[in-house]
Amino acid sequence: MQDVLPEDGMIRKLWIGETAKYRDHILRLDPVSRRNRLGGGVSDDFIRDYVDLSLSLDAVVHGFFVNGVIRGAAELRPLGQRFARQAEAAISVEKPWQSHGVGSALLRHTLLAARNRGFRLLHMACLADNLRMQQLARKFDAELSFDFGSVVGEVESSRPTPLSLMREILADSHGFATAMLDLQSRMLRA
Ligand SMILES: CC(C)(COP(=O)(O)OP(=O)(O)OC[C@H]1O[C@@H](n2cnc3c(N)ncnc32)[C@H](O)[C@@H]1OP(=O)(O)O)[C@@H](O)C(=O)NCCC(=O)NCCS
Repeated sequence: MQDVLPEDGMIRKLWIGETAKYRDHILRLDPVSRRNRLGGGVSDDFIRDYVDLSLSLDAVVHGFFVNGVIRGAAELRPLGQRFARQAEAAISVEKPWQSHGVGSALLRHTLLAARNRGFRLLHMACLADNLRMQQLARKFDAELSFDFGSVVGEVESSRPTPLSLMREILADSHGFATAMLDLQSRMLRA
C-alpha cells in the first residue's frame, strides 16, 4: 500500500508496549478534535481509561508516526461475539497534520484490516456536524456504503481475498523495516 504522507511519516500497526504513545496522541488532540473523536468533551482521566480498555479489547490500531511520535491513529475494534462480523472504527489526526491525506491513508489501512478479518459492517460514531469525517468517508463510496443520516455512519466492508491479505502482510513488513531504519537513524543522530 503506497501512502503519500507529510514529513516522511509512516503508517504501521502499533506494537505491544506502545500504549503510552497512543494515549499521549489522544491527549494532545485539540478540544474540537477531542470532542469529535470521543463524541463530546471528556477529561484526561477518561482518555487514560479509554485507551487502556480499547487496547485490551483486541483492537487493531494503526498509527501515523513522525520521528517515532504518533500524530494520527485509526482504531478497529470488534463488537464481540453477539455482533459477529461487526466492528467499530475511529480515526484521529492531530491538527497540524490534518488535511494532508493522513486520515484517508489511515482509513484505507483500517478498511483493509476489517476486510481481512471478515467484518461486514463497520460502525463509525460520527457527530452530525463532523462534515470533514463524512467527506472523508465519501471518498470510499465506490466500495462502501455510508449512512450519515443519523449520528452513526455504517460501512459495508468487502470480502477478504488472497490479494487483500497479501496487501496487509506487505504493509506490515514494510512498516517494520521502516521503523527499524527510523530508530537506527535517530540513535545515530543522538
Ligand atoms: C476527520 C479526520 C480524521 C480527517 O483526517 P485528515 O487527515 O484531515 O483527512 P484527509 O487530509 O485525508 O482529508 C480527507 C477528506 O476530508 C476533506 N477535508 C480535508 N480537509 C478539509 C477541510 N479543511 N475542510 C473540509 N473538508 C476537508 C476532504 O474531502 C478530504 O479529501 P480530499 O483531500 O481528497 O479532498 C481529522 O480531521 C480528525 O482527526 N478530526 C478529529 C477527530 C475526528 O473527527 N474523528 C472522526 C470520528 S470517528
